[in-house]
Amino acid sequence: MMKAKELRDLYLKFFTSKGHAIIPSASLIPSNDASVLFNTAGMQPLVPYLSGTSHPLGMRLVNVQKCLRTVDFENIGDNTHHTFFQMLGNWSLGDYFKKEAIMWSFEFLTGKEWLHIPLKMLAFTVYEGDKNVSRDEESYAMWRSLGVAEKRIAFLGKDNFWIAGDTGPCGPSSEMFYWKGEGDAPEKFDAQDTRWVEIWNDVFMCYNKLADGSVVALTRKNVDTGMGLERTLALLNGKKSAYETDLFSGLIFKIEELSGKKYAQYLREMRIIADHIRAAVFVLGDENAVLPSNVDRGYILRRLIRRMIRYGKMVGISGLFLREVAQVVICDYGEMYPELEMNKIQILDELHKEEEKFEKTLENGLREFEKMVVLGAISGVNAFLLFQSYGFPLEMTEELAQEKGISVDVKEFLAEYEKHKELSRVGAEKKFKGGLADTSEVVVRMHTATHLLNEALRRVISKDIHQRGSNITPERLRFDFSFERKLTADEVKRVENEVNRVIGLDLGVVRTEMAKADAEKLGAQAEFGVKYPDRVSVYVVGDYSKEFCGGPHVEHTGQIGTFKILKEEACAAGVRRIKAVVE
Ligand code: ALA
Repeated sequence: MMKAKELRDLYLKFFTSKGHAIIPSASLIPSNDASVLFNTAGMQPLVPYLSGTSHPLGMRLVNVQKCLRTVDFENIGDNTHHTFFQMLGNWSLGDYFKKEAIMWSFEFLTGKEWLHIPLKMLAFTVYEGDKNVSRDEESYAMWRSLGVAEKRIAFLGKDNFWIAGDTGPCGPSSEMFYWKGEGDAPEKFDAQDTRWVEIWNDVFMCYNKLADGSVVALTRKNVDTGMGLERTLALLNGKKSAYETDLFSGLIFKIEELSGKKYAQYLREMRIIADHIRAAVFVLGDENAVLPSNVDRGYILRRLIRRMIRYGKMVGISGLFLREVAQVVICDYGEMYPELEMNKIQILDELHKEEEKFEKTLENGLREFEKMVVLGAISGVNAFLLFQSYGFPLEMTEELAQEKGISVDVKEFLAEYEKHKELSRVGAEKKFKGGLADTSEVVVRMHTATHLLNEALRRVISKDIHQRGSNITPERLRFDFSFERKLTADEVKRVENEVNRVIGLDLGVVRTEMAKADAEKLGAQAEFGVKYPDRVSVYVVGDYSKEFCGGPHVEHTGQIGTFKILKEEACAAGVRRIKAVVE
């Protein structure tokens, strides 16, 4: 039986032998992309490099990236989908392209020293083209030259054009499929036949899709590949799913022990518990850990935890059990992911707190739910009651309703939710009137944007410009600076572009402390008329800006989003004012 660690090591070894540098997995939480809650593919943390920034470790990289996808929630429990998974990937940043990528994929899959998969078990897809991008004859010819039969290569449409979300680096792809059916694979490949399982995707990233839908060529041609560790390991071991490999066997064993039931009888339920505990442990143990809450990432985590508590009851586990199963994950994965060992106490404590909280209300909530079922449908008001009073995430109520064959009025639920949120927001705003500093995320992003704006004005307009004041609210940033005349529309645009350029470079933001005199010598910007103490805190953005400042700031400029100037106007004699937002 091949173990996960062997597959992972083999992959890293293969690509280092082809000149790739190993990079560590980035956090599960994206730092440069506000459009996704978690990294859903290995390429996401690398977007700045795929978009043109040079990587310090060179043009050939290889990694195993932690990923989390919640879109396929209802598929969890089947053979091939997992909430948390690991993606093996090799990268060319403007170095090799289709020919080498395909040649090495082929060598790793079929080579004797590597995975040694018989060619008759494999099939491939390439892009059939569209009105902007031509049919990928080059990839087709490459697979053929390696000995792949004509009938085992399919030209496909949109499935073979890869992009994460709606915008960003993208390109045609070529996918590799493994036959998991009984007996020999059919001579002719049919991508619709689910017995062919996709295990690896080579994306030839040479375009950038913009917000207006247009597609422009990237200055460099990149390769982004992704091989699902879980799936591939299962197939290599002749197993139906990764739950039957060492990635999950310890967990399944523990769940059997706690419930006194057999995996074979409660396949789906036990898989869901195993999948969700693994995901929850990785989210709670992440470098940028997230805690359970009712919004965004915290809500996804809460849903995972509460759903598995319900499934725990379904398989007959009595009492609190999350800490016990979490220990298995930490033990099995701690060597590869030391952050889990490091954050062990926090992981176990948070799981316990959330479990205690929900444990108390789950049974009462289920009783309420049963009463509602008699009405033939769950109204939005009732779904909200289950949410508000018993902590049932909407999706859980939907799942329960589905099991009973009845519907939930989601629209009405959302209206109730909004109404409630409005009320609590008014309450929260009142609380803030006392002058508490607002360090909400958008304010922090605007704060860093203000530093970039300060520097951009000097670089684009005049080196004599200096800050005269600044004020930030969650709605906008305001920046006053010394200058004699109105900026032209073109100048405003150039300043805006300059700030966005620096955001795109994803420069690191670092805080240091030093003597005021040293900071002045370094040329750090200080605000005119402000008295600073002898020791000052200085924020340095890459090699771009240095400013006396107490923070807080984002960690990378990429986190800022898009910077937009709304207005440039007079403020006082010789002082101009800019109002801007980040989106
Ligand atoms: N980015 C590609 C994927 O996730 C490799 O499939």
